Amino acid sequence: MLDTPQDDLSESGRELSQADGLYLQMYSVHGLIRGHDLELGRDADTGGQTKYVVELARALGERPEVAQVDLFTRRIDDPRVSDDYDEAIEPLSEHARIVRIRCGGGRYRRKERLWPYLDAFVDEALRFTREQGRWPDLVHGHYADAGYVARHLASYVGAPLVFTGHSLGRTKLQVLTGAGLSEEEVDERYHIHHRIGVEETMLRDADVVIASTSHEMERGYELYKAAPEASFEVIPPGIDVNRFYPYYHDLDENLDPGEDARRARVRMREEIGRFLNRPEKPLILAISRPDKRKNIEGLVTAYGEDKELQSIANLAIFAGVRRDIRDMSDNEREVLTELLLLMDRYDLYGKMALPKKHDPDTDIPVLYRLAAASGGVFINPALTENFGITLIEASSVGLPVVSTDHGGPQDIISNCRSGVLIDARDREQIRRELKRVLVERELWETYSRNGVDGVRQYYAWDAHAERYLEVVGPLLASAEDDDDRPAARRRTGVARWLDQAERLLVSDIDHTLIHDDDPEAGDVEALERLGEVLRASKVAFAVASGRSLELVQEALDEHPMPLPAVVISSVGSEIHYAGGDTEERRWLPDDGFARHLQHQWDRDAVREVLAGIEGLTPQEDEAQRRFKLSFFVDDEALAETAKRTLHEAGLKATVIYSHGAFLDVLPPRASKGKAVRFLGQKWGFANQRIAVAGDSGNDEEMLRGPAKAIVVGNFAPELAHLQGKRGVYVAEGTYAAGVLEGLRHWGFIKDDD
Ligand code: GLC
Ligand code: MG
Repeated sequence: MLDTPQDDLSESGRELSQADGLYLQMYSVHGLIRGHDLELGRDADTGGQTKYVVELARALGERPEVAQVDLFTRRIDDPRVSDDYDEAIEPLSEHARIVRIRCGGGRYRRKERLWPYLDAFVDEALRFTREQGRWPDLVHGHYADAGYVARHLASYVGAPLVFTGHSLGRTKLQVLTGAGLSEEEVDERYHIHHRIGVEETMLRDADVVIASTSHEMERGYELYKAAPEASFEVIPPGIDVNRFYPYYHDLDENLDPGEDARRARVRMREEIGRFLNRPEKPLILAISRPDKRKNIEGLVTAYGEDKELQSIANLAIFAGVRRDIRDMSDNEREVLTELLLLMDRYDLYGKMALPKKHDPDTDIPVLYRLAAASGGVFINPALTENFGITLIEASSVGLPVVSTDHGGPQDIISNCRSGVLIDARDREQIRRELKRVLVERELWETYSRNGVDGVRQYYAWDAHAERYLEVVGPLLASAEDDDDRPAARRRTGVARWLDQAERLLVSDIDHTLIHDDDPEAGDVEALERLGEVLRASKVAFAVASGRSLELVQEALDEHPMPLPAVVISSVGSEIHYAGGDTEERRWLPDDGFARHLQHQWDRDAVREVLAGIEGLTPQEDEAQRRFKLSFFVDDEALAETAKRTLHEAGLKATVIYSHGAFLDVLPPRASKGKAVRFLGQKWGFANQRIAVAGDSGNDEEMLRGPAKAIVVGNFAPELAHLQGKRGVYVAEGTYAAGVLEGLRHWGFIKDDD
C-alpha cells in the first residue's frame, strides 16, 4: 500500500512518459456520434453538441502536445440506427478516436432516459481506462449526463475535470415554464431537477467550466447556486474553415471547389434569381429559423420602408425549409405569413427573395459566398442571440456583417472586427448601417478581410484547441517539477492507488484493529507495525465497519491506523474512496454502489414495520442512514422476530445481529461481505487476492467467504462456530497482531513481516 500514492505515480511503469504527450478523455454520452456523416437534426439529441465534440476531439488530436484523445460515447446496438454506432472503437484521425461504452443495453434511448445507466457507463469506462496502461491527464464531460460520468472518472483516476454544459437545465426550465408548462410537467418529461442538481455539482467540482460565450456564462450559468464557486473560461466553438472558405477562392480558376459545391452554386443562384429583377445587385442576406425572436419582420419592414436601400441591394431571407406554410407550427406559420404580407404591403416583388428550400449542409457556405461576391452584407436582426454562429460563418467567407448587439455577437465582432453592431429595435439604424457597409467600398473590404483573418485566428478549431490547452495547461501534470506540482499530481486517484496493489486487505475496525475508543488498549504496537508492513507491500488497505463514515474518520484520527484507500461503512451499506488532493482529503462516495443498493429497498416501509416490534430501541439519529436502520436489542431472538415480521410484510432486507446488543437492518444487497464482493468486481481483485479480517457478528457474512478470512484471537462468541471452517483462519494473536498473523498465513505478506 502506498501512503501518499501521488508520490509514487511518476515511478509507475504504467505511465507513458510525458514526452509522448497528453492523453485526454472526452465524454459525450447521448445522441448518435460517429466520425463521418453526422446525422445532425435526426433527433433532439443529435445536434450541435455531437458535431462539436467530434471536431474538438479531432482538433485536439492535431496538437503537438497531445498524444491521444479518446471521445467516449454510448455504444448502441439497435436496428433503428446504423451499425456504425455499435463499433467499439472508431478512429477519427491518427491521434483521436471514438470509444463506445455499453450501458443500459443496446437500445437507443433519449438522453432523459439515460440517467439510471450512467453508473454502469462509469464502471465500464473505468475498466477500459485501466486496460489502456495509461491514465488520462484530463477528463472532460460534455452536457450534464457525461459530466456526471466524467466527474466520477476524474475522481477515480485523479485527473483534472473540465465541464461544458452545452445547454443548461435551469435555462430550459425557465423557458418552458415561461411557455406555460408547470414545473412538475417539465420535470416529468425531462427529469430537469435531477439534471440541474448534476449541473450544480459540476460547477462546484470541475476545475474549469467552459462556456461558448460570455453571454452564456452571464445569463445561463449565473442562474446556478454554485456559479460563484465555479471557474469559468469562455472559449468559442470552432468552425470548419475549409467549408467556409473565402468567397474569392471561387473566382480562382486553379482552386477546384468540387462537384457538390459547384452544383450548389448553380442551384442557389437559380433559387434566388427567380425572385429578383436585378440579380446582379449586392445581396443583403439573412439566414435564421422562422422564430419571432429572430425579428425577420423587423428587417423586412426596415427594408420595405426605404426605397434608397431597395435600389442599392436586394434582400434574401432563408428562413428554414418549408413545403406548406399552413402545416407549420404556430410560431413559424405566423412569422412566415407576416413576411409574405410585408412583402406584398411594401411591394417588394423582384427585390426580395424568400426561397422555400436549401440544403443546410452544402448550400449555406455557398450562400454566404454568393452574397460576398455580389458585394453584399449579412444581417442578423435578432432581438436575442445566444451565440451567433452565422456571423462567424459569414465572416469566415469574407462577407461583412451587420448584427444585433445582443449576446454572443458582441464577442464575435470585437474579436473579428468584421462588421457593425446595431440595436435591432432601431430600424433607422439598421438601414443606415446596411447602406454604409454596402456603399463605402473600402469599409466593406476592411470588414471582409478582417472576417477572413479573424475567424481563422479566433474561431477555427485549431485556434480553439490551442486556447483550450492554454486554459487547461495549469491543471496538467508535469512530471519534472515536483515541487510546484499542478492539480493533477496533487490528487489522490484511488484507481491509481488500487491498480498498483496486487492484493486487498479489508478489515473491520472495532475489536479487530482497535479496542473501543481507548487509544491505549488493544495492541497499539501491532497496529503501527501493520501500517509499516502494508506500506512496504503490494497489499491495498480497506476498512469495513459498522461505524458511519464520520465515526470511521474519528477512529483514523485517534488511532495510529493505516490510511485506507477504501472505506466500507455503516455495515456495508456505504462505500467511499480516499480522494481529494494532498491539501484537502475527501471521501468520495461510490454512487454506483448506492444505486445498486436501491434495488428492492423501501426504507420507510421497513422502518414502519419494525416500529411495531417491542424490544427494538432505535439507536441515535446519526446511526440511521439512507441504507441502514439500527437498533439496540437485549435479546437475540428479536433478530428472528424482525426477519419474520419483515418477510410477512413482503419487505426485503438484510438483518444483522452483533455483540449481543446491536441490530442492523439493511437493503437486501448490502452487507460487509456484499460490499467486499462489489469492490472486488469493480476493481478487479479476484477472491483469492482479498483477505477479510473481523471479530464479530456483523463481520460474519464477510468472513464466510469467498475471500480469505482472518478472525482475530479476541473474537466475539457469535463467531465461535467459524473455527475450523475452510478458508477461515482463526488467529492466536489479538487485534492487529491477529490480522498480521492472518496475512502471513494466507501468504499476503512474507513470514518475517
Ligand atoms: C457500530 C454502529 C452501529 C451498529 C453497530 C453494529 O457501532 O455505530 O450503528 O449497529 O456498529 O454493526
Ligand atoms: Mg468489530
